[in-house]
Amino acid sequence: MSEKIKIAPSILSADFTRLGEHIREAEQAGADLIHVDVMDGRFVPNLTMGPLVIEAARRSTKLPLDVHLMMVEPDHMLKAFAEAGSDVISVHVEACLHLNRTLQEIRRLGCQAGVALSPHTPAGALSEVMHLVDVILILSVNPGFGGQAFLPEVLPKTRQLRQMIAATGREIDLEIDGGVNTQTAATCVEAGVNVLIAGSAVFNSKFSVKAGIDALRSAVGNQKAG
Ligand code: DX5
Ligand code: ZN
Repeated sequence: MSEKIKIAPSILSADFTRLGEHIREAEQAGADLIHVDVMDGRFVPNLTMGPLVIEAARRSTKLPLDVHLMMVEPDHMLKAFAEAGSDVISVHVEACLHLNRTLQEIRRLGCQAGVALSPHTPAGALSEVMHLVDVILILSVNPGFGGQAFLPEVLPKTRQLRQMIAATGREIDLEIDGGVNTQTAATCVEAGVNVLIAGSAVFNSKFSVKAGIDALRSAVGNQKAG
């Protein structure tokens, strides 16, 4: 693939006492998107942020906000997330009764429509909605927490999804999320992803945000996307 790789730092691992600062550091270091993990305590066993935090992130950066909804019944909250400033809204296939309708609604609200697949969900779950999808997010850990180990069993599915995207003739971002670091990033890109979502490999106490982003870029041998 000749396309440049995009890096989307996940603020789940940021320091919430200085979230704005951390987001600005990521933007200055050349991040392409800011990834926001919304967890509802039901779809996943953790509770994180809602539209208020997205509004705050919106005021901190001009970068697109890539909002990952790990929640059951996301439909009733889509408007609130769109109005808070989301650019991409991804819902989980496993959490949507009427995925087709949900994706249409995300686009109607003026956002890019994303679908996320938990590790057990096959690529084929998207076969009937590819025309409604702008972004596909592959979970490479069981969703709910940052800092988990990458699950290599998602790689065959990643290759399959890249082929399904090619068959549409449209540009659909293929994201991978969970356990992405300097050890795993190159394999993900080789399998066909063009967006690397990374939390603990970017925001941690061991090195700066810029060092984390630079290390990921050099691991995939590539400069800023665009
Ligand atoms: C996991 C989240 C991820 C998380 C990744 O449920 O969707 O976005 O922030 O964290 P790392 O990169 O630390 O695995
Ligand atoms: Zn995520």
